[in-house]
Amino acid sequence: MKIKVVNGPNLNLLGVREPEIYGKKSYADLEKTIRDYAAAHGAEVEIFQSNGEGEIVDAIQQCLGRFDGIVINPAAYTHTSVAILDALRAVALPAVEVHLSDVDARENFRRVSYAGMACEARFTGQGFDGYLRAIDWLLAKTTGGKLTPSCGR
Ligand code: DQA
Repeated sequence: MKIKVVNGPNLNLLGVREPEIYGKKSYADLEKTIRDYAAAHGAEVEIFQSNGEGEIVDAIQQCLGRFDGIVINPAAYTHTSVAILDALRAVALPAVEVHLSDVDARENFRRVSYAGMACEARFTGQGFDGYLRAIDWLLAKTTGGKLTPSCGR
């Protein structure tokens, strides 16, 4: 199982940006958490982060034929980007949406998720664990395992 993890703008500033919302751990810590978990669960991961919408669209397009699933936290582009939604639909790979914070409990504008319209499951408000649950979900889907209903859309 090859999984691409795609992270959007400002996530590179984890640990520095609004630690009361996003926590004190750094982006490097997030990458390590994801890498260690994937290795322990027999998944191959490649992690990508960009502050640019176009770069994120390119990264999603490049998943075609190379990855079995996508874990995506489009960050602020979640709430604005039809281009990212279209890219996810174009490649048509199983995709899972992740947010560190509980986006539904914050400002109203964060309740809209364009990318989420192309995702099969979403994990929000669980911090780093959300990425791990997303990996679990993709592994369960591809191995015919049980998909946690509370997590699916
Ligand atoms: C975020 C939530 C978004 O609303 C915000 O713009 C982010 C991070 C999260 O992981 O909680 O940058 O995607």
